[in-house]
Amino acid sequence: MPEARLPAIAVLATGGTIAGAQAESASHAYRAGALQVGQLLDAVPGLARLARIQAEQVASIGSQNMSHAVWASLARRIEALCDDPAVDGIVVTHGTDTLEETAYFLSLVIRHDKPLVLTGAMRPATAPGADGPANVFHAVALAGCADARGRGPLVVMNEDIHYAREVQKTACAGINAFASPNRGRAGVMRGAQTNFFSRNDTVHSKASAFSLGALETAGWPRVDVVHAGVDLGADLIDFLAERARGIVLAGVGDGNATDAALQALQRAAAGGVAVVRASRTGSGRVGRNVEVDDDAAGFIAAGELSPQKARILLMLGLSLTRDPASLQDFFDRY
Ligand code: SIN
Repeated sequence: MPEARLPAIAVLATGGTIAGAQAESASHAYRAGALQVGQLLDAVPGLARLARIQAEQVASIGSQNMSHAVWASLARRIEALCDDPAVDGIVVTHGTDTLEETAYFLSLVIRHDKPLVLTGAMRPATAPGADGPANVFHAVALAGCADARGRGPLVVMNEDIHYAREVQKTACAGINAFASPNRGRAGVMRGAQTNFFSRNDTVHSKASAFSLGALETAGWPRVDVVHAGVDLGADLIDFLAERARGIVLAGVGDGNATDAALQALQRAAAGGVAVVRASRTGSGRVGRNVEVDDDAAGFIAAGELSPQKARILLMLGLSLTRDPASLQDFFDRY
């Protein structure tokens, strides 16, 4: 194919292990975000035959330090690139620890259908068998593929394609750390070839009700997560109820907790704090009024969202409404 016909892909780098460097390659220790985007791209064989690349460094951080400020700059830059007819697709390189949160956040605030693909790496760039170059290759190929359009942000890791809403980091090490436990992978990459298994029928991207502007106007409403377990008391919840606009319960089983914790959450809800019940189990669906009487307590059920994604949706929901029924509607649809 003549070079001019290759897709134009913008790569936005934010740091992470994909840009990580070890002091020496036998060491398990490394510093995330040490390399610049040009160095990441230079390590990918055959990239110039896949796409015309423009690259930018948006941040150089480990994704444990991802912040609302970086999310805002990233989202604004992506919006500008989506509006640019000369750009066919966008790739974001990101640390894996909060990759799923950034992907989900972007799926709710970027109201475009241009291909947007996030990727990272489980091994630093200097490690033997570094997975970053293959992941970047697949991400660029996917971002240049017409079939990736209109699916919301996609995540590609270890040859697997995931929808932003579904993907989770399910292990703290290993190149196969990413999965989509509830609805399964969106598809797979085979070399530069994209194979989708399904469509994403949840609301995202172009049809999303949310926007960065509304979120900023609302001051990024504070939402905290409380992790349930044996003998969880009321005091942490009572403390948060004084400070947060929303609380997500990472509940046991079906989003449950001790009587003391549920009573504290009910007090918080009565005081105007939005309370969402999610599950700490890693998969499944938390429905309304199963073991807990959500109608009586004024709670919202998280459905399939993990506690960390429920936190993002609640923050965005609270930028538009405090009404528990309207917030529940968001959780039913997004
Ligand atoms: C990070 O999330 O930045 C560190 C871990 C990783 O990228 O795998």
